[in-house]
Amino acid sequence: MNIDSLKKQAGEYAADFVKSGMMVGLGSGSTAIYATRRIAERIGSGALTDIAGVPSSRATEAAAIELGIPLTTLAEGTRIDITIDGADEVDPDFNLIKGGGGAHLREKIVAQASERLVIVVDESKLVDQLGATWAAPIEVLPFGWRAQAAYLASLGAKPELRIDGGVPFQTDQGNLILDADFGRIAEPAALARQLEARAGIIEHGLFIGMTRDVVVAGVDGVRHLRNPRPNL
Ligand code: A5P
Repeated sequence: MNIDSLKKQAGEYAADFVKSGMMVGLGSGSTAIYATRRIAERIGSGALTDIAGVPSSRATEAAAIELGIPLTTLAEGTRIDITIDGADEVDPDFNLIKGGGGAHLREKIVAQASERLVIVVDESKLVDQLGATWAAPIEVLPFGWRAQAAYLASLGAKPELRIDGGVPFQTDQGNLILDADFGRIAEPAALARQLEARAGIIEHGLFIGMTRDVVVAGVDGVRHLRNPRPNL
């Protein structure tokens, strides 16, 4: 079974969590797009009504407009009912590394404004410890970015400026990405706090304690994992 078919299964499974009348956070990346497409299909068939989508990137916004999903923005105090998004890594505590596509700042804003964050992945994304397979994407302000690279190195990472088509990758906000390879991250929450303390670091791709559900597609089918911590 190819990986794309697993992504499709996970995305479509989670799209069925959406109910009429909901405000829905639309994630970014090659797995979340399957959820977005399925939501659009359900709207098109009349199965879902009164849906308002909040896209988590410009790319998702463009896709949602093309698919005909009614969109809204985060107004003051707005709560999103459910957000469906992908991830690069998921650990056993439902913590994530995100930002493979560089969209993690808007994704985190949308996730934090959501009652329920559902992550959709193929089983290759499940890891025993964050950092096992992915570097942590760190969005930094272009001004003084080398100082942030040095800071990340002082924390034990190997940071690399993300390059796209031979030039520095630019986020939707016009910032840069440093992919910081920390190796296996023993204490992701503590690392997140260290990153948040630094001026010039706009946002890191560690999503700690935000995920309620993970939908994992693998060769044996789709599994729905529920975070046992009820306060999420
Ligand atoms: C976008 O920046 C990311 O956070 C994605 O959600 C994440 O990289 C997962 O993407 P894929 O589903 O394409 O692997």
